[in-house]
Formats: sequence, structure tokens, C-alpha cells
Amino acid sequence: MKKAWRAFANFWKGIWEIVKSMGNWRGVLSLLIVWLIISGSGIFVLGFVFNNTLLKGIGIAMYAFWLGPFTPLIPLNIALAMVVQRFVFLDKNVSWKSIKEKFRGAFKEDKEIIKKEEFIKGENDMLILAVETSCDETSVSITRNGKEVLSNIVLSQIKIHQEFGGVVPEVASRNHVLNITRVFDKAIKEANVKIDDIDLVAVTKGPGLIGALLVGINAATAFAFAHDKPLVGVNHLAGHIYAANIENELKFPLIALVVSGGHTSLVYMDDHMSFKTLGETLDDAVGEAYDKVSRMMGEGYPGGPILDKLAKEGKDIYNLPRAYLDKNDYKFSFSGLKSAVNNLIYHSNRKGETINNNDLAASFQEAVIDVLIHKLKTVIEEYPVKQIVIAGGVAANSRLRERVYEEIKDIEIIMPSLKYCTDNAAMIGIAAYYTYKKEGSLENYQLGGYSTLNLDE
Ligand code: KG4
Ligand code: ZN
Repeated sequence: MKKAWRAFANFWKGIWEIVKSMGNWRGVLSLLIVWLIISGSGIFVLGFVFNNTLLKGIGIAMYAFWLGPFTPLIPLNIALAMVVQRFVFLDKNVSWKSIKEKFRGAFKEDKEIIKKEEFIKGENDMLILAVETSCDETSVSITRNGKEVLSNIVLSQIKIHQEFGGVVPEVASRNHVLNITRVFDKAIKEANVKIDDIDLVAVTKGPGLIGALLVGINAATAFAFAHDKPLVGVNHLAGHIYAANIENELKFPLIALVVSGGHTSLVYMDDHMSFKTLGETLDDAVGEAYDKVSRMMGEGYPGGPILDKLAKEGKDIYNLPRAYLDKNDYKFSFSGLKSAVNNLIYHSNRKGETINNNDLAASFQEAVIDVLIHKLKTVIEEYPVKQIVIAGGVAANSRLRERVYEEIKDIEIIMPSLKYCTDNAAMIGIAAYYTYKKEGSLENYQLGGYSTLNLDE
């Protein structure tokens, strides 16, 4: 009943907006003329003038036909009046395009609000197109309702950046520009959806490389604007955490460990989209340490998967430091470990000794994982939670995955599958569903990019 009333009120509000927009004498006269003709009132008046019962009857019948609160008479009247205003009174302010736009404009906003409320109550499915370009992956996805992935196209630039031993921001931005439209097309095609059916457009707004972010933001904004869809900006780290919601379900309260190329954070969540960052790295992120150590060892980029593989053949024989820092806080530091590897390589070279890269990879990896697991064990003592989520590129690490399950019992641990650990747009689409539910979309299409952005903001 409430819904019907709201629709009724919106209908008349929309009508009034259009009528107001026609406000000059040509518009008013056109409205009147068309009203007299199509409503039957004109015929009825003529019936009186000529005292003709037939004309009076036709007039009344037409009137009766149009009656009702949602009468199509009014919109039809307005549309035809606009045509008269343009072609009879030659009012240049009116065009086919403006007629169409005025009609859409008058009803759009309210329709969107209704839709959002219905979707919050779970009455509506939400089809989301999401864009991720915060680093060196150009990715677009189509997801449904914060859960289901219909398509997730990820175009990696790894080969291009390998030549330089790491991501070159300017090169990343240029390649996003070259590829983004193709990736859009592919994601829509693979999901087998119509653009019309997409309810929301989402894009990573930060943190990330600013030039790279802006390519995705501009593409998503243009797409949303052109197709008249609401737009929402998503935090990349929230995306990493929500990747875990695809194959599992987040249960609150939870602790999330986000380990990626740019971040190492321990986050407490007591509900959807409610983040409290308990600790972060003071210097290098874990993934960054992997990448830099790999480079020192003369291995390639990205270091994570390469060292992961080498470590399988090696043993933890080099005595590398573990920075647990203060036992009671959740800050991390990996630069000391990185320097220790650097010194080891330097001194071995000077002494003419050879280093076994498999063993060094294993030693480095065990040192990293010891710290991560230690911090996790400490945090769950202070915060009794239902779930631990491990996410981000480094969560793809095979040894980390193995050890976490072995060493932390009695609490559910969930990690996204490998394809959802590293950067991808599906995770942004999943987080977008909850972001939109909490914050709604942007009122205008002005979305900025942020190279740094806290989860708690
Ligand atoms: O999350 P992500 O794709 O991008 C950022 O948001 O930074 O993470 C990329 C990072 C890189 O540093 C990469 O070396 C690391 O994740 N990584 C791994 C593994 N796969 C990717 N680190 C350790 N083991 C892996 N198997
Ligand atoms: Zn990432």
C-alpha cells in the first residue's frame, strides 16, 4: 500500500516537474489546446454550443475513459503539447531530444530511490558492473547481489612491467587506456547481460597508483553517465576482504588480514562495511618485500609467486630476523628482513660463496609467515571473533595457506581462491553491493581517485 502511494505521489511530482519546465505562453497554450481535444472537454463544450447530444455523449465518454489517478491522459497531453509547442508555435527551446530528456528526468530520480529501497529490503536483484585499475591489472566484472560472479575479465600487464623489474606507474596508466574499452565489452559479453539490465556501476577509487586509478574512474563514470546508472566508488582493500564473500560467507565479528603488494593490515569488522584498522605495516608491505627480495636474488617480477615456487624446493637454513615488534600491538615491519637478505647476498658475494636461492626463498618466506601467524594468534586472543579472513595478493601464497590452517585451530579461516586473491574487478563488484547498501550512490558523477585511503574513512 505504501509502495502504491509512493508511486502515485512520484507520478504527480514528475508530471508537475515537466509542466513547470514548459513554462512559457507557447507551452501553456499548447497544453490547453491538446487538453481540449484529447480529453473530450472540447467536444463536450461543442455539444453544448450546438445543443448536440451525440457530441455531449462522446465528450463524456472520452472523459470517463481517461479517468483514474494514473491516467495516461496527462503524460500524453503533455507530450502532444510539447509537439504543438515546437511545431505549431515554433518554440525552438523544445526538441525531440529535450522532450525525451524531460520525461526521463522527471521520473528517473524517484525511480532510483524506489529501486534502492527495494533492493535494500532484498526485493530486487542488483546487477553490478565493476572496474578495477588501481595497479597493473585492467579488470571489469559483472556480479550479482554481492555474491555471484557472472564475468571477471582480468588483463594483466605483468609481461610489460617484467622488463623493468616492477610496475612503472606511467606505463600502467597508458596500458589501462589502451585496453579498458575492450575489457568492458568482454565482461558484458561474457556475462551475457544487456547494458539496460545493469543496476549499478562501481569502480576502485583508491588506494592505488593515481594515474592508473583515474583511467578506471573516468571510464566507469563515462559509462554510468552515458547509460544513466548510479555510480559508486569502492575502497580497494574492502574489495580484497569482500573477495572472501564470493565462495564463502563473511561472518561477524571477524578479523581480516590484508596482505598485498601495497598493504599489510589487520582489520576488525563487526558488521558489513564497518572497519577498524588495528595495525598496518610501518614500512614495506609483505608483497612489496617479496618483490624486492626477488629482485635482489636476481629472480624476476612479481616476486611473490616466484619465491613461493622456489621455496618449495628449499629449506629454512639462513637465519633471518622476525620483527614481531611490540607484543601488544598489531603493527608490522618488513624492511629489516629485506635488509637482512640484502646483507646476506652482499657478504656472500664478497666471500665468493654461492647462495642457494631455493633455501633463501624458503628462509625469507618462513620469516614472513612466522610474523603473520604470530600476529594473527595474538589478535584473536584479544578479539574473540567468528572468522579470520586472509586476503590480498599474498594470500595466494601456498605456504601461508598451508600453515594458517595447520596452526590456527578452533576458528573458521576463509581465503579467496587464487584468482580472487590478486587484483580483480569481481571483488570490487562484491564490495560495491555492500558499499551502495550503506552509503548509496554519488549524487553527481564527480568521483576522485585517492592514492592513499584508509578503510576506516
Ligand atoms: O593484491 P595484489 O594483486 O595487488 C595489490 O593490491 O598490491 O597483490 C600483488 C602482490 C605482489 O607483490 C605479488 O608479489 C604478491 O601479491 N603475490 C604473492 C603471491 N602471488 C602474488 N606473494 C606471495 N606468494 C604468492 N603466491
Ligand atoms: Zn590489491
